[in-house]
Amino acid sequence: MQIPLITSLIHYFKVVYSYTGRKLYILLLLFLFGGLSESIGISMLLPILSIDRGVSGQGQYAKTIYNFLESIGTNLSLFLLIILFLIAFLFKGAFVFLQKTLASYIRCSLIKDIRIDLCNKYKGMKYSYYTNTSIGYLNNIITTETNRGVAALNRYIVVIGSLIFILIYIFFAAVINYKLTFVVVFLSLILFALMRSISRLARKLSLLVSDTNAQVQSLLIQTIYSFKYLKATDSFTHIFKRLFREINRNFIYQFKSNMLTFIPSSIIEPISILFISGIVLYYVGFRAKSIAEILVLVIFFYKAFSYVFRFQSDWQKFNASLGGLEVMGKANQILNNNVEKVGIRQINAFNKAIELRKVNFSYGSKQVFFDVNLAIQKNKSIGIVGESGAGKTTLFDIITGLLTPQSGKICIDGIDYLELELSSLRSIIGYVTQEPVIFNDTISNNISFWECDSQEDICKKRIKDAAILANCDRFINESEMGYETIIGDKGVKLAGGQRQRIAIARELFKEPEIMIFDEATSSLDTESEQLIHQSINSLKGVRTIVIIAHRLSTVKNCDYIYVLKEGMVMEKGTFDELCRDIDSLFYSMYQKQNLLSVKNVI
Ligand SMILES: Nc1ncnc2c1ncn2[C@@H]1O[C@H](COP(=O)(O)OP(=O)(O)OP(=O)(O)O)[C@@H](O)[C@H]1O
Ligand SMILES: [Mg+2]
Repeated sequence: MQIPLITSLIHYFKVVYSYTGRKLYILLLLFLFGGLSESIGISMLLPILSIDRGVSGQGQYAKTIYNFLESIGTNLSLFLLIILFLIAFLFKGAFVFLQKTLASYIRCSLIKDIRIDLCNKYKGMKYSYYTNTSIGYLNNIITTETNRGVAALNRYIVVIGSLIFILIYIFFAAVINYKLTFVVVFLSLILFALMRSISRLARKLSLLVSDTNAQVQSLLIQTIYSFKYLKATDSFTHIFKRLFREINRNFIYQFKSNMLTFIPSSIIEPISILFISGIVLYYVGFRAKSIAEILVLVIFFYKAFSYVFRFQSDWQKFNASLGGLEVMGKANQILNNNVEKVGIRQINAFNKAIELRKVNFSYGSKQVFFDVNLAIQKNKSIGIVGESGAGKTTLFDIITGLLTPQSGKICIDGIDYLELELSSLRSIIGYVTQEPVIFNDTISNNISFWECDSQEDICKKRIKDAAILANCDRFINESEMGYETIIGDKGVKLAGGQRQRIAIARELFKEPEIMIFDEATSSLDTESEQLIHQSINSLKGVRTIVIIAHRLSTVKNCDYIYVLKEGMVMEKGTFDELCRDIDSLFYSMYQKQNLLSVKNVI
């Protein structure tokens, strides 16, 4: 029964040590010194309580203390004994304080370090892993599970501390009366073993708590993201049915898990008192032993008992929060296995071209790119058109190195992406998506992306220049707080076209070499679209521009156009060349869209 406990104690010692390092040893030493000081203090009670009997009338243990004090040349007196008693407890207090302070420092700094480490791991993870996982899961790890995991580490330290105290109390009790100590230890072990099944159950429940926590977070995030839709269509009931079910399951597991941890702490007192009353009755009532010796023994036993139960209850709580530690460990492992592979070659500028040669790409077993050849020349504007699902966004993901093709080659200025330090590539890319990326902060900070202090004049000027170029300076100036207007989560306080122009301004502020617009204007009205086209046109010839669109009017001014269909480059050429070929796919798309726009006008 005890072996699995010892194995787990040793196993988790290594786990905890991997997080705390040598500080764990210091903590254990502080526990040890604290326990020793207290036990020495309690031991002093023996000579104090029986000082009137003189040295010869003492039991073996008290005699040893007397002899020790005399050997170091102190005259025995009640006053001296009480001073020593006090000093011992003062030391105990100091050690406990140091131990608690260090434990708290370890806990707080661990939460900080683990969160920062996880953030860095999120940054380094493969995009393909991100698309296959849930945001709720990732969020849950960094918020809830980190806390639970660190609480588990802390609990473990308390468990080990209790163990040290128990061993010290048993040692001192055994020195006073080893037979009685043996009997008491034996009885406690039986009780302890009975409690072990509760621990196992607590651990199972703990994993279920982690699991439901992740589900709740995932559903909550989705609810908050889709708030407007859910509110406007009164569809909360559907998602809430699932959400509330998970919240209820979480409640049940959490409650059961908590309740289990209360059992040991509630039965500690009655059982200890029962044991102790029995001992006093037997030794003082029947065997007429010295009350002083029994009293000191009883204190040690009572203390040891408390710590045995505290050990049991903390071990259970440790098991209850172990889910967090396991989820944290598993997440770490998963993230380590999903680190994006990057080369070491840095690029600081874009000089010639990005080229795709015979690129094939599949999502799992579904192939979406077939032998794609394509080139993006410096300072040219390239249009990528194709119907929905043709692979346009996937092409962007490949160009930015977010996805790695299964075969074929992709190079920038002749350097293979596989050799490239991908963040150096991405730092020269600007990206504007259909759904603009907006942060809940001021317009200034949304444009500068906190790169500089928006109160400083140089920064202000750069922000304004970018806003002018993106055609958003006018509406910003018209708003009440100007550039300092806070635009709400996802920019809810702005119109779609305004949000989009701010997103463009941010990319222009960054001054990237390559600007990619993925359906940046597809959901906008003609006027907003025209304003954005003006911004894009002002970049022509000075920046490399890639425009991904299914609306052909968007790519009208591009230098070169690629037409994608079902993952293949079907046609390529300038707008006029493609329009001239009346058998081309481009021409038929052009015809359809022209007719559509005429219909729309009617
Ligand atoms: N993460 C993914 N896992 C599996 N299949 C995917 C994934 N992302 C996209 N696909 C599939 O790949 C194909 C190309 O998708 P992609 O998003 O590149 O199309 P698109 O041309 O950008 O379409 P749209 O114009 O609607 O944005 C589609 O069939 C799509 O279902
Ligand atoms: Mg797309």
